[in-house]
Amino acid sequence: MKRLIKTALLRSLSLRTQVRLAYALLNNVTASASRDDAHLLEWLFAKVDLQQVLLEDRIRQIKFSGRVIADGAAPGVRPPLQTCLMEDTSPWTQQARISDANAIPGMISEEEGQYYEYIGRLYRGHGEVIELGPWLGKSTRHIIRGLDKNPEFLGRQLHVFDDFVWRSSWMNRHGDCEQLPDHADFHHLFEKYVHGIRQRLAVTRGKIVDYDGNEDLAQIDWSGAPIEIMYVDCGRTLQVNEAWYRIFSPSLIPDISLLIMQDWRTHRERPRLSYNETHWFTAAHPELEIVHEVKDGGIATFLYRGKR
Ligand SMILES: C[S@@+](CC[C@H](N)C(=O)[O-])C[C@H]1O[C@@H](n2cnc3c(N)ncnc32)[C@H](O)[C@@H]1O
Repeated sequence: MKRLIKTALLRSLSLRTQVRLAYALLNNVTASASRDDAHLLEWLFAKVDLQQVLLEDRIRQIKFSGRVIADGAAPGVRPPLQTCLMEDTSPWTQQARISDANAIPGMISEEEGQYYEYIGRLYRGHGEVIELGPWLGKSTRHIIRGLDKNPEFLGRQLHVFDDFVWRSSWMNRHGDCEQLPDHADFHHLFEKYVHGIRQRLAVTRGKIVDYDGNEDLAQIDWSGAPIEIMYVDCGRTLQVNEAWYRIFSPSLIPDISLLIMQDWRTHRERPRLSYNETHWFTAAHPELEIVHEVKDGGIATFLYRGKR
């Protein structure tokens, strides 16, 4: 009862007063910790933390959304790149809805599928296109549908990399698909689901870093051919993101290459999870300039501004 009254009182206070109170409570708890105080303190910090996420979203939107980007495209080659962050209407949500969106088990939202179908239209034929982490190929199908609408992609293939190692703890949860034993090779499931677009793909099995059952696989490498678009969905830690960036970034084209990070927005998840380090990754690379952010899902896209 006492706790209920305290919580109700706290909810009625302004955020600023709550922050002050949180500091006062912190002093109190460190001096003489009671379980009730600790619980309230936790609740207060979670609330303040969440408010901060929303504030930072809004600041990014004000700073970066709705601009025309001067990239390296020759004028008139295609519509200019326009930034769009977390808007209610965006160039990708204005497209027709995807009728077979749920036909394949997958881990992406409907808006993300729409985004993949949209972004392929901006491909200009300057370099290769890569997907890291297709799982069963749901993202792959959307990516190909986007690219196939673009005449510049005619006769080209999407380079796809995955270790194809089943992790039951989180893969069993997603969609209606066969469930394999932990650490089983699931390459055959990917092949099954990409039937019909298989000739559009160059598929390699390999690891980016050691991770939960892939230790015996070889590390992926890259020929050095210029890369124009990368779709990245292979983990959230700084370690894995730094690893693929080391392999592929020497082949990125300044002012042209787009890096689509499927999981970028997970750094906003609250309560915080230690492996959601995508923001630390992009913060460590000022050459990555944000251009797009979906509203529903994890995708943020960055234009590579590295040195020529
Ligand atoms: C979140 S799932 C991708 C979901 C998929 N894009 C979709 O549309 O449903 C991540 C994928 O990355 C792969 N992966 C994770 N860590 C990896 C690593 N270190 N090396 C290679 N592949 C990895 C996993 O096997 C999995 O297929």
